[in-house]
Amino acid sequence: MAGQLTFALIKPHVVLTRRVGKIFTRIEDAGFGIVLAKTVQLHKEGAQEFYKVHADKPFYENLCHVMSAGPVWAMVLAKPNAVGEWRGFIGTTNPAEAEEGTLRREFGDPQNITNNAVHGSATDHDAKREINFFFGREIKLAEKLHEIDH
Ligand code: CMP
Repeated sequence: MAGQLTFALIKPHVVLTRRVGKIFTRIEDAGFGIVLAKTVQLHKEGAQEFYKVHADKPFYENLCHVMSAGPVWAMVLAKPNAVGEWRGFIGTTNPAEAEEGTLRREFGDPQNITNNAVHGSATDHDAKREINFFFGREIKLAEKLHEIDH
């Protein structure tokens, strides 16, 4: 079950430049099912909690500021090997180095690694935590998600 799902997030700079629809189209054209999706304006503490694994990194403070500077779109995506497929589809972290055809190459800011358009869970374990972070109530309600171990 967990291998079929991942957590994805569209970052504020994409929302604020009104390119969310283009990314949704790309996601569906690539064969991912959008199981859950919502837009949220995070507060600073929410961003800090979501990215707490990076708390010791030099970019953490700026990352949390940027991620709470506008709305995000949070999503649960379905596809076989969802975590790996999504990470391949979005490309490497730095938009300036992201491969041709990836979302970060197309929608990320090559001058600013923080504005890399989208986030994706690194592992199935992270996917469970991140899905639960944004969709704790929906997990209990949604038939496809209720078996997630959280
Ligand atoms: P994301 O996949 O959301 O996970 C952590 C985020 O930190 C990353 O994408 C970038 O937006 C941001 N970030 C900023 N600077 C760096 C860096 N030097 N290395 C990795 N991530 C960075």
